[in-house]
Amino acid sequence: MEVKTSLLDNMIGVGDMVLLEPLNEDSFIVNLRNRFDHNEIYTYIGSVVISMNPYRSLPIYTPQKVEEYRNRNFYELSPHIYALADEAYRSLRDQDKDQCILITGESGAGKTEASKLVMSYVAAVCGKGQEVNKVKEQLLQSNPVLEAFGNAKTMRNDNSSRFGKYMDIEFDFKGDPLGGVISNYLLEKSRVCKQPRGERNFHIFYQLLSGASDDTLMKLKLDRDFSKYNYLSLDSANVNGLDDAASFRTVRNAMQIVGFMEAEVQSVLELVAAVLKLGNIEFKPESRVNGFDESRVKDKNDLKEMCELLGIEQSVLERAFSYRTVEAKMEKMSTTLNVAQAYYARDALAKNLYSRLFSWLVTRINESIKAQAKTRHKVMGVLDIYGFEIFEVRDNSFEQFIINYCNEKLQQIFIELTLREEQEEYIREDIEWTNIEYFNNAIICDLIENNQNGILAMLDEECLRPGTVTDDTFLDKLNTICAEHQHFESRLNKNSKFLTDHSLPHSCFRIQHYAGKVLYRVEGFVDKNNDLLYRDLSQAMYKATHSLMRQLFPEGNPAKVNLKRPPTAGFQFKASVGVLMKNLQTKNPNYIRCIKPNDKKVAHIFTDSLVCHQVRYLGLVENVRVRRAGYAFRQPYESCLERYKMLCKKTWPHWRGPARDGVEVLLTDCSVPTEEFAYGRSKIFIRNPRTLFTLEERRRACLEDLATLIQKIYRGWKSRTHFLLLKKSQVVVAAWYRRYAQQNKYQKIKSATLVMQSFIRGWKARNILRQLKYEKRCKEAVTTIAAYWHGTQARRELRRLKEEARRKHAVAIIWAYWLGLQVRREYRKFFRANAGKKIYDFTIQRIMQKYFLGLKTTTMSPMDNTWPAKPYGFLEGAHTQLRRIFHLWRCKKYRGQFTEEKKAVYEEKLEASEIFKDKKALYPSSVSQPFKGDYLEIQKNPKYQKLNSAMEEKVLLADLVNKINRANGKGSPRLFLLTKSNFVLADQKTGQVKASVPLPDLASVSVSTQSDGFFALKLKEGSASASKGDFLLSSEHLIEIITKLHRIGTTAADRDQINIDISDEFLVQFKQDKVCVKFIQGGPKNGNSAACKRKNNRLLEVSVPSP
Ligand SMILES: Nc1ncnc2c1ncn2[C@@H]1O[C@H](COP(=O)(O)OP(=O)(O)OP(=O)(O)O)[C@@H](O)[C@H]1O
Ligand SMILES: [Mg+2]
Repeated sequence: MEVKTSLLDNMIGVGDMVLLEPLNEDSFIVNLRNRFDHNEIYTYIGSVVISMNPYRSLPIYTPQKVEEYRNRNFYELSPHIYALADEAYRSLRDQDKDQCILITGESGAGKTEASKLVMSYVAAVCGKGQEVNKVKEQLLQSNPVLEAFGNAKTMRNDNSSRFGKYMDIEFDFKGDPLGGVISNYLLEKSRVCKQPRGERNFHIFYQLLSGASDDTLMKLKLDRDFSKYNYLSLDSANVNGLDDAASFRTVRNAMQIVGFMEAEVQSVLELVAAVLKLGNIEFKPESRVNGFDESRVKDKNDLKEMCELLGIEQSVLERAFSYRTVEAKMEKMSTTLNVAQAYYARDALAKNLYSRLFSWLVTRINESIKAQAKTRHKVMGVLDIYGFEIFEVRDNSFEQFIINYCNEKLQQIFIELTLREEQEEYIREDIEWTNIEYFNNAIICDLIENNQNGILAMLDEECLRPGTVTDDTFLDKLNTICAEHQHFESRLNKNSKFLTDHSLPHSCFRIQHYAGKVLYRVEGFVDKNNDLLYRDLSQAMYKATHSLMRQLFPEGNPAKVNLKRPPTAGFQFKASVGVLMKNLQTKNPNYIRCIKPNDKKVAHIFTDSLVCHQVRYLGLVENVRVRRAGYAFRQPYESCLERYKMLCKKTWPHWRGPARDGVEVLLTDCSVPTEEFAYGRSKIFIRNPRTLFTLEERRRACLEDLATLIQKIYRGWKSRTHFLLLKKSQVVVAAWYRRYAQQNKYQKIKSATLVMQSFIRGWKARNILRQLKYEKRCKEAVTTIAAYWHGTQARRELRRLKEEARRKHAVAIIWAYWLGLQVRREYRKFFRANAGKKIYDFTIQRIMQKYFLGLKTTTMSPMDNTWPAKPYGFLEGAHTQLRRIFHLWRCKKYRGQFTEEKKAVYEEKLEASEIFKDKKALYPSSVSQPFKGDYLEIQKNPKYQKLNSAMEEKVLLADLVNKINRANGKGSPRLFLLTKSNFVLADQKTGQVKASVPLPDLASVSVSTQSDGFFALKLKEGSASASKGDFLLSSEHLIEIITKLHRIGTTAADRDQINIDISDEFLVQFKQDKVCVKFIQGGPKNGNSAACKRKNNRLLEVSVPSP
């Protein structure tokens, strides 16, 4: 919730002087002092802000403060310059009204600081953005530049502005700054050449000498020592709290930000240096033949350096300091200058040079900060101009006269605008306008500025008049013309009432300004108004090669010689003030009236007389009177109702109807006299501050009551809440305690009950036990008795039965014996003849039957060797025979299953076994290998097609064998084919038949006893084939080959059986020689196969690996 506050809250004294009661100068100052003592440096007069200079930094300009005052109503918070700035800015932004902020006050009262605070506030609250920030920065940085060149230390202010400044800040429709225009008024240029005691020249001279680098100073031909320059006063060259060197850096930086080029800065510094040099030029008299003294430059060094700096021909300037050309009616005359005139010319040049430089700086800054966009913009003007000046100790001169004239104009516009505003508000609010009595200073303005007989007009007239013109002739003129004027006073006045007034010297006149009387000394008026610079000097300046210099002295251009006199200083000032006033009149004014509390420039001191003096000449009391001439206080109905609604039951706490009705009800209820207020359209107007304070007082009392009520209710609520809390807690505690106590009690009862229960149960159980035991004993006794009884009975019965059985049994036995006897007699009679043989046969038959059935378990496999053991010894021979017969029978059954081929195979295998079993070690490994016969697949393989076709008979065996070479024992592969009638050896690769031997030519076959595959086919001696010799071959299928050879021999009818010779040494006939082939058991290194080696001509050794 937004907290509604008001200026009236926590006020120290009164925040708004309009509410001051009683209103007089004393109460005014007491109020100011009271507030000042409490650090409240701002006080309002309606919308005017009075600002007291605190001479110390107060924590009231922080960003938080800016936020606090931002978008708040003027009277909502305690008085502050930010409230005024905010009001002006919002009115400019939201209502499209151009604003001006007029800051007045005497030197050192804080005008410049106030103007900077306003600018910084506006900069803080207006829009942001890169471009906007740049503009803001340029506007703010123009201040240090102008302050360096236009401010100086004076007795009253260490940073006194020696020029008037009006700055228009331009904004776009959004309220963002676009740029600005600065106007300057009347620079106090006399300060360039001469400063009163305790004061300094403009800051820039000191800043340049202290802050510039050695290099820069050398270029400018300057020396750091202030004492080397006549124009610099020495007694206060160093000011406490001012760091000139640092300021110089700030200024250079500010110039850069504002947009000065480096060359421009350099030019400006050169001109500053030139002014210092100019001050050092001195003159000496030189007598001329005509008896007049002529001035000559004493020491030309400074002149030379200055000329070098500016690019001026030294002789031209030197001449300009000695001669003066006067032109009248096309005639040129040259007159010499005496030393005094030369000094006058020098100082005039320095002053002009500096003031023109200053004006140029303002123009240059304006060029940089001027708004770029041509669109319509809103304007906020800030006027920081010298306040009313009255010197008591020093003479008031032309400058004070001008300044005070300006302040008269400002006062006039103030009165005009305040009244106009007041009147406008009354009309707007539909309140009757009653004429306000106030002092109108138009008459004083007229005295000064009237075109016919105004003081300025007369001064101009005097200056332009031919003949001798002095300040005294000017005073005379004033005395004659203004004599009747009621605000003009002079000793020589025809009005004799001042003839005896000794406070008014003869060379002075006095004007009764609205702020008080001021005594002016006429001395210097004419000269200062003339502001004469000899044309020779301006022409010399124009001749300079320094471009800025030429710009500053355009009248020195010989092509534009103007014989008309330049406008006087007074005239120029009047004109610019006129323009300023016109400008201000179109804007909505906002006033800041600055007051300085003491002359010592220190904090916490409030000098009544000094403040009183300022209050008087700022016309502040008058200001309050004007403000409250009609109604002292006004407030929108809503705020009024909000603030005072607690004073009336009908409006408290809420008023439902329109605010105006609410206020009416409220005021009637409070019995405020009807003449004390008037109802406007949106505001209530209260005539007398007293009425307001009565309302405030009642409100305060009411608030106290309300506060008491709130306090009462709050305390009641708090105590009640506390009590309820305690009560609740007590109930909780009690509940817990009761629970605990009950639990304890319950536990006790429970354990007691258990004890009792156990005792009772025990007793009961024992009772039952006793009962049961008794019953059991009873039962046992009965049983025992019954048992005994039954036993007796049973024994008795048993005895009876035994007796009876004995009797029955004896009968049965006798009967059985009798029957047996009978049967045996019958059996013997019938059976005795052939029973033995039948029983024997039957028994034997049964035994045999059982024996044969027992043999059923044996299998049909010929391999099965099992046979049941013989059961009876008498069956031994039959048992063996039966076994043999059964075996033969099952072998026959087995063989019956064979096909013819299979039969042939087995026959071959059988034959092989007959030949080799137990004779050759190779045999056992061949048993499991079936005899395939054709290992080469000679029928199918197309490779052996030719060989196959060459064979006339069926090939029984075809295999790859190695034919052993006698020469080295190595084998060469041969195809071995066997048919019924011959065997053939053919080449393995070509299939070409190498040898074909008819089987009848084969005598025998030799093989070893070992596991090798070597065999020799020995041919019958004298046969046809024997001529080639025997064949020593080796084959993996040796067993098969030999078996097949043997079998063919066996089955062939036409020849003998082939001999098979099995021994480890045999002879082989190779062509003519017989070679012995010897088989030995070889070592493991020979591998798995047997290797043949020739040992000598007659011996081939075959080593066979051990099995
Ligand atoms: N609001 C302020 N807070 C703190 N110090 C202030 C304030 N206003 C002014 N001062 C002090 O007072 C001095 C003089 O103020 P300022 O230069 O603004 O006076 P001025 O009215 O412009 O004087 P002049 O007419 O000579 O230019 C400042 O240098 C500063 O030290
Ligand atoms: Mg100032």
